[in-house]
Parts: sequence; C-alpha cells; structure tokens
Amino acid sequence: MWKIQLFKLNFDSREVDAVRQTVESGWLTMGERITDFESGFSTYLGGGAQSLAVANGTAALHMALLALDVGPGDEVVIPALTFVADANAVRLVGAKPVLADCSSLDDWNMSVETIERCITPKTKAVMIVHYAGYPCDMPSIVDLCRRRDVRLIEDVAHAPGASVAGRSCGAWGDIGCYSFFSNKNLSIGEGGMVTSCSAELIQRMKYLRSHGMTTLTLDRHKGRAITYDVAEPGLNYRMDEMRASIGLVQLDKLPTGNARRKDLTDRYRSNLAGSGISMPFSSLPADSVSAYHILPVLLPKDADRKAVIENMKAKGIQSSIHYPPFWNFTAYAGQYSPDDTPVAAEICERELTLPLYPTMSDEEVDLVTTSLLESL
Ligand SMILES: Cc1ncc(COP(=O)(O)O)c(C=O)c1O
Repeated sequence: MWKIQLFKLNFDSREVDAVRQTVESGWLTMGERITDFESGFSTYLGGGAQSLAVANGTAALHMALLALDVGPGDEVVIPALTFVADANAVRLVGAKPVLADCSSLDDWNMSVETIERCITPKTKAVMIVHYAGYPCDMPSIVDLCRRRDVRLIEDVAHAPGASVAGRSCGAWGDIGCYSFFSNKNLSIGEGGMVTSCSAELIQRMKYLRSHGMTTLTLDRHKGRAITYDVAEPGLNYRMDEMRASIGLVQLDKLPTGNARRKDLTDRYRSNLAGSGISMPFSSLPADSVSAYHILPVLLPKDADRKAVIENMKAKGIQSSIHYPPFWNFTAYAGQYSPDDTPVAAEICERELTLPLYPTMSDEEVDLVTTSLLESL
C-alpha cells in the first residue's frame, strides 16, 4: 500500500537462521541465548551495567517501578511528551504520573528546570525518556535526583546506542528500560531489557521477572537444582530463546543501523533547511550521541496537520504523530491541562513523524521531503 512506509525491519537470512537453529536446539526459553543476549547487551552498554531480558518495554518499566518500591501515595515525574506506557506503568503501581514540560521547541526532552518544578515531597522517582533517541542532559539530571533524593528510571526505548560523555543512556539512572518492539532500533517483535549498575536491583528484578523463584527450569534441566524457593512475589515477564536469538543478530546490526539513521537524518535536515519546517535537536552537545530513532518535524503554526498527513498518504508516504497528548485520552481526561506544559502542548499539535529506517535510500528521503513540501 505504501511507496515509503514509516518503518521497515532490517531483517535478512541471519534472523531466520537464528530462529530456526533455536527451534532445532530443543530449548525454547531462558537458556543460553538469553544469557548471551544479556551479556552482549551489557558489553555494548559498558559502564558496569548488567542486563536482564524481559517480555517487552512496558514490562521493563513496571519491573523498574516495583523494584524501586514505587506505589500508592507516590508521585513519579514523567515527560508530557511521551508514549502512554510511561503513565500507564506508573498508574498501575498505584502512583501518580506528574507531567514535566519539554525544554523548548528545539530541545523536546525534559530539562533539569522542568523536572525540578514538578518535584514535591511525594516524588519517589523521575522517569526520563530520551525522545527520538536524543539524550537528555544526564549529568545535571543525575545530580538533581541525588540532591532531591529521588530515584531515576531511564526509559531508553528510543535510545539504544545513545550516550552522553561516553556513558551509555540506560547506564546513568538507577534502572534503564529498553523496548525491542518491531519499530525500534533493535527489533525483535516484542521484547525488552532492564539494566542497572546495582547488583541489588538486578537481583530484585530477576525475582520480579520469574515469580521470585530462586532457580530456573534450565537449572533443573541441567541437574543444577532439584526444586526452588520463592524469595518474593513476582511475575512472568520472561523472554523466550527465539526472541533472544533475533536480539543477538539485531544487536550486531545496531551500530551500523544507527550510523545509517544519522546520515539519513542529516539529509532530511539539509533538505528541509529554510523550508519553514523545523527539525528539533538542531544542535547536540559535542559529547552527546543520538540513536536517531524517529524523524520528528515541527510543521508551521498555521499548517493543517491532518490534511498534510492525508496528502502524504495520497502520494504513498506514511507519516505518524509522536505523540498525541495525555489530555486527549479518555483514560486521562480531566487529569492534565495543556496550560501546565505549554511547550509540550504546542509540539503535540504541530509534530509530524516522517519515515526513517536503516535500509532507507537517500532518494527515498528526497521523495519524502519533496512530497511533504508539496503537501504543505
Ligand atoms: C517511549 C516508550 N516507552 C515505552 C514503550 C513501551 O515498550 P513496549 O511496546 O515494548 O512495551 C515504548 C514503545 O513503544 C516507547 O516508545
């Protein structure tokens, strides 16, 4: 249906072979591919972070909140501009999501100032998102959280491979939460990872991932254990071996994929320069590396976004919105006002996401930008 779709998988025979070999191996869950994927991911992140593969990014966020004992009566600061998973996870542990505004119409991440405005005596944690793969100001945010004695969760769903001052995003906070949903830089279909430099938090999340059990089915299969204890209540947020085997191949492709995303983003930026359409994160700090997850633009104030999307569609080009605001969702109606986070409110009205994926050609970028300008 689409001439250029929003996202395309970067898959080939390697992923297919990996899954086939896993199925043929006769062991389907929590085996060697999981441990290889976790240790490969930890090595990729560096900085002493340990990793646990989990069912998906939302499970990762849920586990992080539970591991940090966030619950009823607590507040968690989250971005006003983000995917609903952040608010949902906070709500479902009984805590209240408090929305922090974007820094500016150029830097769409939360800043130390916008976070600090939301901190109250009830704030238990801050959940930051490296929007579109562009890192938040981590040294200042870590410093703020230490000063105000609140825990820091990094939602790194958009930013595997991003870093600040040589330290990976996901290794700055207490816990990092990754998503490997189909459209992510590292795609598995459904999958995620929790990371932490704290051995204690890793142990708690291991229990949360698998019913608090002290041994796994694999331990019993290998004769390393006969039975198990249950150390604390937990869930089943495990990943299976097929997905871990895809994850291993995708992890190998991540650096070149991210590099290609950067080149494509640079091309978009030069094609749109002076057009009246602006691209955020125009000047990254010299020590920040983005993962270039999606390609958001800000349409001119008077543009009719719906008509632009329809026009693009008629030309065979898919576009999207990241994100519709919380106050427009039935589940969150009446709880938030656009007036409290005016920068995010304006971005939510004017944002358009254009196609971006590692196998995209330069010519496809040119076609998207030409079509966008015509559609406007
Ligand atoms: C910013 C953000 N957080 C969390 C999630 C949730 O991840 P998942 O879909 O793997 O549960 C997503 C995924 O779409 C996301 O974009």
